[in-house]
Amino acid sequence: PAPIVLDSDPGIDDAVALQYLLGTGLWDLKAYTSVGGNLPADATYSNARALARALRIDTDVPVHRGAGRPLSRLPYREASAFHGRAGLGEESLPDSTAPHPTESSAQALLRLSRAYEGELTVCATGPLTNVAIALLEDPGFARRVAKFVFMGGAAQVPGNFTPVAEFNIWSDPDAAEVVLSSGIPFTMVDLDASHGWLFRPADLAALEAAGPGTALAARLMRTYMQAYTRHGGDGTCPLHDPLAVGVCGDEAFVTAAEGAVIVECASELTRGQTVFVPADARRIYYSESPSLTARLRATGRVALGPGSRDFSE
Ligand code: BDR
Ligand code: CA
Repeated sequence: PAPIVLDSDPGIDDAVALQYLLGTGLWDLKAYTSVGGNLPADATYSNARALARALRIDTDVPVHRGAGRPLSRLPYREASAFHGRAGLGEESLPDSTAPHPTESSAQALLRLSRAYEGELTVCATGPLTNVAIALLEDPGFARRVAKFVFMGGAAQVPGNFTPVAEFNIWSDPDAAEVVLSSGIPFTMVDLDASHGWLFRPADLAALEAAGPGTALAARLMRTYMQAYTRHGGDGTCPLHDPLAVGVCGDEAFVTAAEGAVIVECASELTRGQTVFVPADARRIYYSESPSLTARLRATGRVALGPGSRDFSE
């Protein structure tokens, strides 16, 4: 199995993404680094520890605390309307008894990027605060990481938090811009792709029937679906964060194109918008702007829709 770090703000779909990651057998999880997002950093840290215990990894996998606040001006805005008051639906899971590591999430990311230089995959399913802090502290992080996959953004479709912004990027747009301009080899798993991976009532029934190993995931997904229904949906919900984990192993889960992504950080109206500039179009669009031309050199892979690979495979 390949070394990976999951950087996450649990969060219901974050929790399911962790269990999915462990279940693939593809990965050696070196650390579970929490970040503020769906809830403030202290709460996502507690949830991450409790999940590590519930999934019986807390004796092997250290859980780290994320930065107390985003790089951006505003504090994290809670998404408890979707994830429940404490972030994990109606669960109240006991805390892990593992010691609290002294390293922060960003410090753990940096250490592991050195220990597994050229091998480490980093999967981020929350705001990009920790990854940005690691990069600001040591820009070499960008070239030591083998692969960086994150859930966030909306290249073509509307946002889910504002008309133009997806929640993770809106939560810390400055962090996202640091990351996406750093030269890190990124794959952006955005709403364009995750809205094509819907979890339906029949999937819930299958998860519930699968036995005790998936009982927690089934309870979490049930409350997530109820939240989507309360918000005017039809009882289906997108598998945002599990999809990012899937893409770490196989990009065929999405249809991706190469290009740069610039994050709007200055505007109140369009804060957190992710502007996708396809690699082959950048000269046409922005050739008269030296600063934008320079910025567009940092390219990665951007999901423009769901792919051919299926979760059932
Ligand atoms: C993202 O927002 C969070 O609430 C989810 O966990 C996911 O990471 C989707 O926009
Ligand atoms: Ca998340």
